[in-house]
Amino acid sequence: MAGHIRIDPAFVVGEVNPRLFGTFVEHMGRCVYTGIFEPGHPTADEHGFRGDVAELVREMGATVARYPGGNFVSNYRWEDGVGPVDDRPRRVDLAWRSIEPNTVGTHEFLGWCERVGIEPMLAVNLGTRGLVEAVEYLQYVNAPVGTDLAHRRAANGREEPWDVRLWCLGNEMDGPWQIGHMEAREYARVAQEVGNAFRRLDPDLELVACGSSNRQMPTFGTWERITLEAAFDHVDHISAHAYYEPIGDDVASFLASAEDMDRFIDAVVATADHVAAVRGSDKRIHVSFDEWNVWYQSRFGGETSLPFVHAPRLIEDVYSTLDAVVVGSLLITLLRHTDRVAIACQAQLVNVIGPIMTEPGGPAWRQAIFHPFALTARHAKGRVLQLAVESPQIDTDRYGAVEQVWATGTHDVGTGDIAVFLVNRSLEEPTDVTVDLSGFGHLRLVEHLQVHTENPAEVNTAADPDRVRPHAGSSRMDDGVLTIAAPAVSWHCIRLTEGAHHA
Ligand code: AHR
Repeated sequence: MAGHIRIDPAFVVGEVNPRLFGTFVEHMGRCVYTGIFEPGHPTADEHGFRGDVAELVREMGATVARYPGGNFVSNYRWEDGVGPVDDRPRRVDLAWRSIEPNTVGTHEFLGWCERVGIEPMLAVNLGTRGLVEAVEYLQYVNAPVGTDLAHRRAANGREEPWDVRLWCLGNEMDGPWQIGHMEAREYARVAQEVGNAFRRLDPDLELVACGSSNRQMPTFGTWERITLEAAFDHVDHISAHAYYEPIGDDVASFLASAEDMDRFIDAVVATADHVAAVRGSDKRIHVSFDEWNVWYQSRFGGETSLPFVHAPRLIEDVYSTLDAVVVGSLLITLLRHTDRVAIACQAQLVNVIGPIMTEPGGPAWRQAIFHPFALTARHAKGRVLQLAVESPQIDTDRYGAVEQVWATGTHDVGTGDIAVFLVNRSLEEPTDVTVDLSGFGHLRLVEHLQVHTENPAEVNTAADPDRVRPHAGSSRMDDGVLTIAAPAVSWHCIRLTEGAHHA
């Protein structure tokens, strides 16, 4: 059976939110050291940051970067990462049992963001520290000179405030693994207090309260409700985190991971709206999906297995075509929720479950999962459209019957560009998908790229960095109907235009 999609410019979910294409830089493994930062590397700039990685980050189109963690932030002293580099302390990091030299800190990271053209999203430590240190850090970063903390920043080389807009109030505080983990009511009170104080300094900051570390957490739903009941007036967003991998040999459910993300977002939105309803408020809390990716956690021996060393090779998953198709389907899901997901950060950026890999002193290359991210970030412009999809169903153990064809579409009214993003989530069955575009005027097919390999286990390596890459897909246009041939386990980006031009 074939899939059928009807796409019409009148049915709009919302504007494409560019912050859906965020990333995450944690002081963990080799994400920072020998990832984005490697003085002495042949491509390093005068600040010690790798030029080859910066170029790939720009190509990827990442818009936001969350920093410095992750679990790391919950035992981080921001003061360690400012001031003369030679005076900075070497510390143990309890989150990842590593040695942190603090060579990279706030100035280095925010400078890198400015040069690469990424909006920073800073997290504060609410694990081993609290209100005072968080407020001092906010002043250090954002206050205009005239007071002590801003003077310290200026003395350390940066007079002008950075004016960071996005702040995470802690990280995964619901997780027993978190240093300084809290019960929901304890966290709710802290989030309320920190949110209140942050807003005193700047009422326009965008604040993210911690939500659940995944949808399977025993406190999921209750955590969000209790946190928002306390912090509702002081925050804008609530976080959600999710990592996916096949459980045992259940690849069918893995391919349908977007179902979990979809239901997760719906449930968080429903909970936030319930809190709003009880308060009689029209305010809408949005979701900050600030950690998501494929992560083969079953291959990770756990934090206690780690020796205390600097920048170890930690969770450097090598991604396949199969993983890239799942990542593509998760991006489709985020776009479908553009009206309620304010921020999304793929975790992480380099080496640590990253779309970019590096070798110290050597090359940087794109993992398979880089490609759906880069193409979606580049071509999802304008409005997200509500598609009517009729799809064959697939039975999965985890999610029951799901649609084989998972899709979204965007329409840029200004340029006349249309993009359809689509995944065939079947492990075995190819399918033809017809797309009825008759609601538009005359359209021209510009390009059809797909990520697919005969063997879905193909990966990119330093020696063979382009084995998995986008290549031309097979599609045709007849009388306003687009027909796409979608092989099993494939991701597609099809671009059309109403206009005459094309890049
Ligand atoms: O991204 C790796 C880790 O996953 C982060 O540090 C943590 O927040 C999450 O559990």
